Amino acid sequence: MALTSKLVDIHTHIYLPRYTALLRSRSSVPRILTTTSPLTGAPEDRLLILDHEPSGGRPVGPQYWARDEKLRFMNTHGIDVSLVSSANPWLDFLPPSEAQTLASQLNDDLEEYCAGSPTLADSPTLKRLYGFGLLPLVPGIPVPALLETVQQISKLPHLKGIIMGTRGIGSGLDDESLDPVWDALSQAGLVVFLHPHYGVEATAWGPKDNGHVLPLALGFPFETTIATTRLILSGVFDRFPTLRLLLAHSGGALPQLSSRLASCIDHDPIVASRLKHDARFYLGQLYFDAVAYGPEEIGFVSDVIARANSFSASTKGSGFISADRRLGSKRMLFGTDHPFFPPLNSTEKWRSVVENLQAIDAVSGWGQEEKDSVRGNNALALFGLI
Ligand code: URA
Ligand code: ZN
Repeated sequence: MALTSKLVDIHTHIYLPRYTALLRSRSSVPRILTTTSPLTGAPEDRLLILDHEPSGGRPVGPQYWARDEKLRFMNTHGIDVSLVSSANPWLDFLPPSEAQTLASQLNDDLEEYCAGSPTLADSPTLKRLYGFGLLPLVPGIPVPALLETVQQISKLPHLKGIIMGTRGIGSGLDDESLDPVWDALSQAGLVVFLHPHYGVEATAWGPKDNGHVLPLALGFPFETTIATTRLILSGVFDRFPTLRLLLAHSGGALPQLSSRLASCIDHDPIVASRLKHDARFYLGQLYFDAVAYGPEEIGFVSDVIARANSFSASTKGSGFISADRRLGSKRMLFGTDHPFFPPLNSTEKWRSVVENLQAIDAVSGWGQEEKDSVRGNNALALFGLI
């Protein structure tokens, strides 16, 4: 298939019906609670997933689980293909055996959800929907159970990667006992989508009710920043150079902090000796969604990715060499975060989506080729869809 200009959404979520049923059956967070709307008096489902859930949770409806709603949203915004992932908190709260069984069932469910989607009118070999599977990453799970699930996902033709949170099997992602999992994922060619859920310690937000603003705007990206930095420091990218890791929300604060990180490592020789490269090099090994909402931020991330190539082993710690912003566009991918951030009124198009597309279009120094790469061509290549 020729590289035509497709719009591909790589950051879009679902709570599959089987998972929704579990959330409805629970009496503690995470759960779906049916309450009475204070405005209309009608019954209303609310999603409570965060530990200190602000403002009584969020309203939840078929956009969170129905395939038709996903396709309708895609049609409204001109999205050709979506790579759908389960939304947080995945299986994190379940005991190991339950997590393993449910992971396997949800992977089969997602395969069916994608396989049953229509094909693209102008590219009949492409489906509208592909997916990221789930691993039962919970404390106490034996690593062979994780490897078994990697094998399951790698045999499901519409699943092209996995989504994971930042806790691993209880000690974070820099836990060396996860090395066989990184190895298996690399060998299977599955893209790992790293996504936050926990944010940072809630006391950091103070007593004032600012709704979901602080946990989502700051907590989520800081969590991703910390998890990815720990992965870099653990040498995972030296041990598994073919691992493909996609960071939610444009990598959080990591691009902004990467030179500071490199400097701190340089001044800590024991840590520095563990790594083959300058810390900034590893940002060029990663993939970043473009869910940042501003052309300046997206352009800046592109600069940082482009610069990474300047920091090979031979230039470890040697400082800044400027690079061409356009190169960074090759590792950035459009996403929407649907069904989160819905419009406040029922306008047809979602502001969160329109703004992100406008931001990609307005990045200074990017031409049509770079914008098309980020809008969809990178995704088609990364997920082996061309
Ligand atoms: N809120 C969430 O809980 N998850 C997302 O992915 C986005 C917003
Ligand atoms: Zn998300």
